[in-house]
This record gives sequence, structure tokens and C-alpha cells, in this order.
Amino acid sequence: MKVKGVVTGLGVAGGANDGSLKRIGVRNSDGASMKLVRDVDVTSDKIIRSAADLAINGAPPMFAEPIHVGRPNIGDHKRFLQRASNILDSGWLSNNGPIAQEFEQRIASFLGVKHCVAMCNGTIALEIATRALELKGEVIVPSYTFIATAHALQWQEITPIFADIDPATHNLDPAAVWRMITPRTTGIIGVHLWGRASPVKELEAIAREHNLRLMFDASHGFGCSLNGELLGGFGECEVFSFHATKVFNTFEGGAVVTNNDTLAEKMRLMRNFGFSGYDNVIYPGTNGKMSEIAAAMGLTNLEDLDDFVAINRRNYQCYRDAIASIPGLSMLEYDESERNNYQYVVVEVAPYFPIARDRIVEILHAENVLARKYFWPGCHNMEPYRSYYPHAELVLPNTKRVSDRVVVLPTGSALQGDAIRGIVSILGVLASGKV
Ligand SMILES: Cc1ncc(COP(=O)(O)O)c(C=O)c1O
Repeated sequence: MKVKGVVTGLGVAGGANDGSLKRIGVRNSDGASMKLVRDVDVTSDKIIRSAADLAINGAPPMFAEPIHVGRPNIGDHKRFLQRASNILDSGWLSNNGPIAQEFEQRIASFLGVKHCVAMCNGTIALEIATRALELKGEVIVPSYTFIATAHALQWQEITPIFADIDPATHNLDPAAVWRMITPRTTGIIGVHLWGRASPVKELEAIAREHNLRLMFDASHGFGCSLNGELLGGFGECEVFSFHATKVFNTFEGGAVVTNNDTLAEKMRLMRNFGFSGYDNVIYPGTNGKMSEIAAAMGLTNLEDLDDFVAINRRNYQCYRDAIASIPGLSMLEYDESERNNYQYVVVEVAPYFPIARDRIVEILHAENVLARKYFWPGCHNMEPYRSYYPHAELVLPNTKRVSDRVVVLPTGSALQGDAIRGIVSILGVLASGKV
């Protein structure tokens, strides 16, 4: 298979650009060609017919440069640089500047919520949100999530209690949440994993019945909906990460969004040391502010979000079509009646697939396809939780099963169909079991 395409990314130097590279054909609403990131040559003449063609067996890798799962989506360079130049001219670099304020307004109006409190990253946003909600004692979270969901609690000496997930959705199983409630429980943090909504209604019912606070880690869910409503307005507040690897990034960044005026006001104080004006601190706080340059990146990328999602969707469909014919591999589905960002291409490896999940990842890495075992081995298997709860696995069977089976494949504005079909051809050879 001739694998040829444009891969965009962080400081990756490809071969000579001989003009044979195809630029991803996306256009902005104003019709201007969208320069996502600089071109990198990932052409490959490699054809995988059998195990002998695999890099792990000594053949050259399929791609000359590593292809990462979370390559940044970067919007229109010109518009970003114009904003950056305006910031430098203004001399207002941080401290709730005009760009950060505009960013908050745009995000709130895009998500249909009253308040967006922009922050320096998603982890600090989680910490501030949980503190503003006065969570303490124990808070129920999934173990099958990025470690920051648990650490944001532990950092404040709140105990994360891990509840199991539904193996079909990878999100919290409400029955498991219910089982983990104790007299010390004060709240629940649902995670909209892979951008697919948590069981919001069921968690709301549990929270109501047990008088618990409910919030969501929506780090994966920017631009995704539940019953046609964009994630952001559920629970008492929702937290987004705008990290460079997310579908929508501000280099580093995050936000808490809420419809609660008092909560928003409290979080604004908390993210700015508790200052309510010059020389007047009225609350304990930290430094969670978003810089002007981060907000400028956010405004630019928000304008290009539709393009990013369209590319992800095209890639997702291309993977799905190619993987459909490989027995033992299945792709996590997105509900097509909802809005999705298709940021994650999640493949589950069935127990009968002849090659073990970890070996598949090794084989892909040898081809320079840096697939990931997200979120293996589960937060409960990482410190300090592993030491605190050595037997947690007993109540987390689905977390173990899913985290042992998942492989996340690269997508984003980096990839095109030929490269994707090349990646899937590697998996196709593995299905024969002869490696
Ligand atoms: C589910 C989840 N929660 C929290 C975070 C933390 O966000 P940040 O990296 O912006 O601090 C991330 C990602 O990084 C995440 O994937």
C-alpha cells in the first residue's frame, strides 16, 4: 500500500517537500485555505502483506516520523498571529485581560451556559471547582479516566472513591456509584469519557436522593452533546481541559462552566488569589488565571473548531470502515444523533484476537504509530491509590476488562485516509496470528 499524506504536528521534520504532499483540503468559513500546521512528509511505499513486512521483525517502519495520538489542532496562523501582535502592542499579558474576557463570553455563548471561568489548565479548574463546591470526605469518581480527575481531589485531601464503569459505554455505572456511597460521601464527579456523555440523568437522581453534589469532568467533551444539548450545562458545573492534545486547545488551558452565579463568582475569586480588588483579599485562593496568549489561541481555534471536528469525523469513519473487516477488533461507536468531536479512535481488542493488546501496541510503535493504552491500568493501580486500596480491583472488574483491551489510535488534522488505511493494514496482518 502506498501511504501518502500530510501529517501535521509538533516540530516534526519530514523528508523534502517535493510538492507531492497533499494539503488537507479544509477551508474556513471565509473561504481561505486553512493552514493547520506545517507539512511533514509521511509518505511511505511500505506494503504490509505478511509478518515479514513488520518493523518489529526488522523491516523499515511504515512512517519515517512518529505519529502521536494527540497531535495539536492549530487554527488559522494569520488570525492567531494578529491577535498575538495585538496583545504585545497592548502590554496586557494576563490578569483577566480583554482577550480572556472575550474568550469566556464566546465559550459561554457557544456552550449555552451563563458563566465560563477560564483557567490555566483543566487540573486547576477541577481543583477550584471541587473546592468551590466544598467537597470533602469522599467523592466518587471513575478509575477509568485520566489521573488528574483523581489527583485533583487527593491534592486537597479529599478521598477519591473509585466506582466501576459500564463496559458498553466506558462511563460510570450508576449502580456501581450507588454501591460506593458511605456517610462520608459528599459528591460525584462523572467523566464524559471519549466525549460520550456520562449517564447524567441517573447520576442526578442518585445525587438528589443522597444529597450529594454532582459535577462533571468534561475534558474530552468539548463540542459534544447529550439529547441535543452541548455538554457544559449539566450538574452544578462542568470542567473542560483545553490542553494542546485536546480537540480544542489553548496551548494549556481549561475552564469551569456553570449556570450558578454564586459558584461562578466564588471560582473567579479563587482563581485570582481571592482578590476582590486592589489590596483586598477576601477569600483563600490560588493562581488559576488564563493568559492572554492562551485565550488568543482559544478564540482562533474556536473559529476553526468545525473544521477540526469534520476532519476527525472523516478519520473516524475511515478507521471504522477499514476495521470492520477485522474479526476481534471493534471500534467504540459514537451516537450519530448527537454532536461528537470524534477526538478519540478507541479500538477494543476481543480476548480471542490472536495477538495480545500490549503486543499490538509494541508492533504499532515499531511502525512509528504511537497508539496508546488509555487509561490503563486505571487510576486505582497508580500511586498513591494502589497503596491505599490494594484490593480495589475486586470492585472494578469492568474497569480492568476495558483498560486491558483498549487501544487508542492516532487521529486529528494530522492524518488522511491513506495513512489510516496503512495503519489498519498492520492490524489486518496481526489478525492472522502469525507475527
Ligand atoms: C479526563 C481528563 N481530566 C482532566 C484532565 C486534565 O487536564 P489538563 O491537562 O488541562 O490539566 C485531562 C487531560 O489532560 C483529562 O483527559
